[in-house]
Amino acid sequence: MRVLTISGSRRINSSNSVLLESFRDVVRGSAEVLPFKGLADLPHFDPDVDDDTMDFEVVEFRELVNSVDLVYFSTPEYIHAMPAVLKNGLEWLVGDSRFYQKRVVILQTNNTSMFASRSLREVLLTMSARVIDRASQVIPLAGNRTTVEEVLSNSSWRELLKKSFDEAVRDYLNIEGS
Ligand SMILES: Cc1cc2nc3c(=O)[nH]c(=O)nc-3n(C[C@H](O)[C@H](O)[C@H](O)COP(=O)(O)O)c2cc1C
Repeated sequence: MRVLTISGSRRINSSNSVLLESFRDVVRGSAEVLPFKGLADLPHFDPDVDDDTMDFEVVEFRELVNSVDLVYFSTPEYIHAMPAVLKNGLEWLVGDSRFYQKRVVILQTNNTSMFASRSLREVLLTMSARVIDRASQVIPLAGNRTTVEEVLSNSSWRELLKKSFDEAVRDYLNIEGS
């Protein structure tokens, strides 16, 4: 199984990126996890751009998304919304029919910033993605300074990440959860 992870944060020690990196460690051996680091390199979305005039970065991003079985998102909330850099990336996927029914999971690093995750879910549903709610977990990291080592040494966080992936696989294999 190939999984792309997309963090909505550009911050070097981002808790959302840490969570997705930890996810990669937890599922190592069961899935190939590719972290997407290029959100900030995408140009501002422009509806006048077509397939012939599209920047290489956008073409590459679309191909990468198309090549995976699953996309994992984790995003901070900025002013009660997802960061513009993430919304911009999603806007570039709107014209790509291959995104239809793409399996996606939304992780969240705290249970207070609800606006961004809810709006991300709404945006993804509007784009006809298949949001796997049972795999979409809140993993309440302690603030935004948590390290990968701390996440991996916390058995309940590890368990939540594992459970999320198990649910995503179950959805992929079309098995009903118990
Ligand atoms: C510009 C800006 C706006 C923010 N707005 C909100 C907000 O509306 N609600 C909220 O809960 N947190 C808000 N925050 C806090 C971030 O969501 C929080 O620090 C998050 O953990 C950052 O994620 P990261 O560690 O992945 O960078 C804001 C932070 C910044 C920099």
